[in-house]
Amino acid sequence: MLDLHCHILPEVDDGAGSIGEALSMAAVAAKEGIDAVVATPHFLDARSIDDFVQGVERQRQQLQSVLDAQQMDFDVFLGAEVFMDPAFLKLGGLERLAINSTPYILVELPMGEVPLYAEDFIYRLRLMGFIPIIAHPERNLAIMHDPNILYRLVDLGCLCQINTGSITGFFGKQVKRCARILLTHGMGHVLGTDAHSDGTRGPYMRKAVEQLKSWLDEEQVRNMVNILPYKVLGGEAVSVEPPRKYKGSRRFWLWG
Ligand SMILES: [Fe+2]
Repeated sequence: MLDLHCHILPEVDDGAGSIGEALSMAAVAAKEGIDAVVATPHFLDARSIDDFVQGVERQRQQLQSVLDAQQMDFDVFLGAEVFMDPAFLKLGGLERLAINSTPYILVELPMGEVPLYAEDFIYRLRLMGFIPIIAHPERNLAIMHDPNILYRLVDLGCLCQINTGSITGFFGKQVKRCARILLTHGMGHVLGTDAHSDGTRGPYMRKAVEQLKSWLDEEQVRNMVNILPYKVLGGEAVSVEPPRKYKGSRRFWLWG
């Protein structure tokens, strides 16, 4: 399996703290049946894209060479988790943050809201030739409250990546509920572990795939787990079912 969202590169963000932890994450991932990851370090501020990419590519090469030396059959590709900041659209070289030099780019929403400029941001990326993949929308508070907020963004032509930990309930029952709604309404397309460590936020996949089998039919699961991620990595076009609006009730809660 391929993990499209993983903070495995050492000492570049809040992910792996050392090369040792990165290797340990690779070992955990391999045990989970993952044989390749896209390293997606956070791109959070408007520093030079060139400097950022040079730094993370150096770390990727170093990690890959140690993995190869240890004869681990495990590939680390490069991407980034690009925060939804309109200022980034004016930076030159945005394509260098895309997944494995493809048109697919992983975009992170703020946790608490979907900004007014979100549609414009996605639309502009589409005009620039990118296919945005929204990272873990099921963890966004506004989307948890009203899943249809995501409908318009998906309708503009982006994909959505759901965290494996959201599917298993690691992030709580409200996040799990939202993940299920998105996945069953054409608003969840690929999985990612969003792993940050070799511990509780590790690259776990198997349990989520098992849970997915009780929510979706066999072909949908195969598409999500075995087909779409590899098409993304290869820069191939993907065809997905159109999103459907959620007709259930909105949720209000104070905790949980
Ligand atoms: Fe992430």
